[in-house]
Amino acid sequence: MARTTLTRTILAAVSVASLFTLGACASDAGGEPAGGGETDAAAPDDGVITLGFSQVGAESGWRAANTKSIQDTLTAENGFDLKFSDAQQKQENQIQAIRSYITQGVDVIAFSPVVETGWDPVLQEAKAAGIPVILTDRAVDSSDETLYESFIGSDFVKEGEMAGEWVVEQYDGEGYKAVELQGTTGAAPAIDRKEGFESAVEGSDLEIIDSQTGNFTRAEGKTVMEGFLNKHDDIDLVFAHNDDMGLGAIEAIEAAGMTPGEDIKIVTIDAVKDGMQALADGKINYIVECNPLLGPDLAEIAKKVIAGEEVEKRIVVEDLAFDQESAKEALPTREY
Ligand code: AHR
Repeated sequence: MARTTLTRTILAAVSVASLFTLGACASDAGGEPAGGGETDAAAPDDGVITLGFSQVGAESGWRAANTKSIQDTLTAENGFDLKFSDAQQKQENQIQAIRSYITQGVDVIAFSPVVETGWDPVLQEAKAAGIPVILTDRAVDSSDETLYESFIGSDFVKEGEMAGEWVVEQYDGEGYKAVELQGTTGAAPAIDRKEGFESAVEGSDLEIIDSQTGNFTRAEGKTVMEGFLNKHDDIDLVFAHNDDMGLGAIEAIEAAGMTPGEDIKIVTIDAVKDGMQALADGKINYIVECNPLLGPDLAEIAKKVIAGEEVEKRIVVEDLAFDQESAKEALPTREY
């Protein structure tokens, strides 16, 4: 399957009434934003947009590619002064970084929330300071959509469904027993991929016999898989919420004297180079893509927000899926 360019689907059109309006100068701290909704952004005097970005961490190959895309795009040549921080997968570090960006008076804050809940207080602080917030990659669970301007990222439920649909298509009727390596507990991709996969396999004869978090890392994926192998002698399939945990599972399966991709089938999500190579080598059986190249969309949305232009509340990044043959075709030109 050929790789297509990143496309967008506008899921939720922003009503004109709920759009923020750009004031000629910064909004008063604590003042109610115009338009009864999102934050009034202040256009920087020097034309350079200072953007504070709080990244989840460096837990996976996907995250490394995502960080590179952001750092390569939000450059001085492109009109940005990027302030970047790595939260090491800890929500408290992200909250601290966002507070620091508010204190510094950056023009825009962007972040990829490590978990879904618990963001309202700090987002209210950003709103009160008149600093617009853009979410990338992962969503927040908040009933107040005025706390951020836009959310750019994949549809994780759909990714889980795509993985589950492929499994059903290939293996339904064989009584397969599956184990699941979940992403970080409380993170949007872990919650949504689980939901999507479970709904797709419902009604088939695939049984999920165990499920545990591997925190999106290769090391924890390996450790959890070792535990599964000690506990169960009848595992037919691994569904890993990302490539890195799937790659950890491969190490555990090989160490146990079995052949990954044959004795135990593996389905993962991300389609980063290491995962795609394992798929091409027959150690992984199927990968659903999650595109990490969010830098260009973030730059565009940040510029629009600062210019007072309308932005889409939800920008969905389209994802493909790969089997062994399409992985071999895609690998030579794979960007990440
Ligand atoms: O939020 C995206 C997920 O986070 C990726 O699938 C995973 O690899 C990363 O850690």
